[in-house]
Amino acid sequence: MRIFASLSLVVLALAFVLAAPTSAQAQTAAPTPPMGWNSWNFFAEKVTDKDIRAAADNLVATGMKDAGYIYVNIDDTWEDKRDATGLLHTNSKFPDMKALADYVHSKGLKIGIYSGPGTKTCGGFAASLGHEEQDAKMYADWGIDYLKYDMCSFIPDVMEKQEPNDKAAQMRLMIAAYTKMGKALKATGRPIVFSLCQYGWDAVWEWAPALGGNLWRTTGDISPDWDRIYAILSQQDGLAKYAGPGHWNDPDMLEVGNGKLTLGENRSHFSMWAMLAAPLLAGNDLPNMTPEVKAILTNRDVIAINQDKLGKQGMRAYSDGEVEVWTRHLSGGAMAVAVLAAGDNRFSTHPFHLNLARLGLHGPQEGKDLWTGKAITLTDQMPIEIASHDLLLVRIEAPK
Ligand code: GLA
Repeated sequence: MRIFASLSLVVLALAFVLAAPTSAQAQTAAPTPPMGWNSWNFFAEKVTDKDIRAAADNLVATGMKDAGYIYVNIDDTWEDKRDATGLLHTNSKFPDMKALADYVHSKGLKIGIYSGPGTKTCGGFAASLGHEEQDAKMYADWGIDYLKYDMCSFIPDVMEKQEPNDKAAQMRLMIAAYTKMGKALKATGRPIVFSLCQYGWDAVWEWAPALGGNLWRTTGDISPDWDRIYAILSQQDGLAKYAGPGHWNDPDMLEVGNGKLTLGENRSHFSMWAMLAAPLLAGNDLPNMTPEVKAILTNRDVIAINQDKLGKQGMRAYSDGEVEVWTRHLSGGAMAVAVLAAGDNRFSTHPFHLNLARLGLHGPQEGKDLWTGKAITLTDQMPIEIASHDLLLVRIEAPK
């Protein structure tokens, strides 16, 4: 009897191992949108080893790590020259990348790095053309967990040079270059999140998942001003069907806490990136973050919308002049509703009136206002007044 019992245990364990997804099927990389911090939006080319360590320390100290921010991503400007064997060296700002990776890992965090398929990165530093396997292996040896691969000089160096008069042929070269790095990363055997940065060219969302892309930029660069953030948001509508566990649309990294964004703008930016199932890569000065900005970045209810395991990206349900209503379907039948005052000129003389039927909802809806933390009931045609560039974000557990 005992032998029988242990035999069945072995069979059970074997069945479990066999049923587990292979690495090709597994969505171990980015089952929900990656969360973390990236050096570019605040430090740009000035970033150093010390800043990366401070970012890791501060993710822990501020509670951001506990809220889900796991990746510490070094963007451009860490690279120096290749030696005679083709091995790329780091410059003096990053004296020992392996030691830095070990430090970040010792905090329970993961580390990301940056390169591109051309000869040069966007900042003019050495990129990976002709050294894809060698670079991928080096990243894996260092313990890198995430690669942002930025097109930049590949456009003039390869695409325009090789196919000056044929745009479609240029795009095929681009896809081949990303495929090459996708394969090189896979060949390392280390799970490395693959982030495509080619600004959305040639409907990247249609081909990136097949080559192992976990996220892909959908637009040009973000900047810390409302018009740019809103312009990027507007370009995301219609892309929802391409996002899902393991592969995400990337409307670029967060500017929360940067530039002169108001608190309302920071709230709206963060909330809408949550609605979009976008990667949440903070890009602010963590050691000098204000309590208000920290409260926005660590709002657990909003992060839960972003990280919802269903992985269904939100969509614009309708717009009415300068006010937009977006919805996102969540696991367990729940729903998030965002009412965004995108424009500058709507006041209490003419509050916005919510139309529930246009959201597929009927009758009063019990929900939670995720920025006040209070219960709220949404009723049809209710007047809602929202300050310019701010929003109302509501989670409805059981929409009717
Ligand atoms: C491009 C990218 C940015 C950043 C810089 C670095 O502009 O889109 O996110 O990585 O390059 O040079």
